[in-house]
Amino acid sequence: MATTFRGKTVLITGASSGIGRSLAVALAAQGARLGVTARRAELLESLAAEVRAAGGTIETATLDVSDRAATVSGLRGLADRLGPPDVLIANAGVSEPTGIEPQNVDGVVRMANVNYLGVVYAFEAVLAGMLQRGAGHLVAVSSMAAYKGLPGAAGYCASKAAVSSYCEAIRIDLWPRGVAVTCVYPGFVETPMTAKNTHPMPLLMTAEAGAAEILRRLPGRPGVLNFPRRMRLLMALTRLAPDRFIRKRVRVKVIDPAG
Ligand SMILES: NC(=O)c1ccc[n+]([C@@H]2O[C@H](COP(=O)([O-])OP(=O)(O)OC[C@H]3O[C@@H](n4cnc5c(N)ncnc54)[C@H](OP(=O)(O)O)[C@@H]3O)[C@@H](O)[C@H]2O)c1
Repeated sequence: MATTFRGKTVLITGASSGIGRSLAVALAAQGARLGVTARRAELLESLAAEVRAAGGTIETATLDVSDRAATVSGLRGLADRLGPPDVLIANAGVSEPTGIEPQNVDGVVRMANVNYLGVVYAFEAVLAGMLQRGAGHLVAVSSMAAYKGLPGAAGYCASKAAVSSYCEAIRIDLWPRGVAVTCVYPGFVETPMTAKNTHPMPLLMTAEAGAAEILRRLPGRPGVLNFPRRMRLLMALTRLAPDRFIRKRVRVKVIDPAG
């Protein structure tokens, strides 16, 4: 078993289910010291009980990443209890349809607040300390949806494209200061988020396999981490495809006007 993260302090947002939970379980098995957050306290507590029963170190903080003050103080509180974070994984995210008639503007705002600003606030919580130490690794979970605006999912794609641009820029800002930035682009992963999807999900992988792939490549501190790699190729082709083709063949999320 890999031990790359043994003794490292890793903070994760959105660890109550899906990719975030699988990352936490895999990191705990490697001997990382974990700080986990999400809104659902009971799920965080059951994760913590599982990790502690296996001899791991874990602390929890219940918070909403769209609340700047709560995110900053919650993550800093975890760092106080665990020690300075070596890695922060801003993974929390939500997905809902956008639609055009009606336009789901409230949903677009929610996705911008959680998926994009939630990453910014999580970074804010730990960045000053990392700069002082001249060391650290900021990780954001974006999505392959950042690579192409997809019909029915305008708000989700835009929120993830914002995360990607933000990471791309600060990666360059931070490079001379010893702090690495990795933007993770998952393809389709089997989680509660995708369980509601009715459209085809090519190259779907389990959350455990997704987390394992992230953790295998993260120590190399790549700027960009796409998985599965064949999905990245598919997205590159999708970018080249004419709108007419996309309209016919790709429909990610649709609001049913009837309800
Ligand atoms: N599954 C995929 O195919 C896929 C593909 C590309 C990218 N992603 C991205 O991967 C990340 C994880 O998603 P997932 O698939 O693992 O979905 P998931 O199982 O629904 O997990 C989402 C996590 O985010 C947390 N979260 C949501 N809103 C939050 C908020 N306002 N404040 C704090 N935590 C919040 C949830 O916890 P609480 O509800 O307890 O707060 C949960 O722990 C997301 O950023 C998602 O966009 C997923």
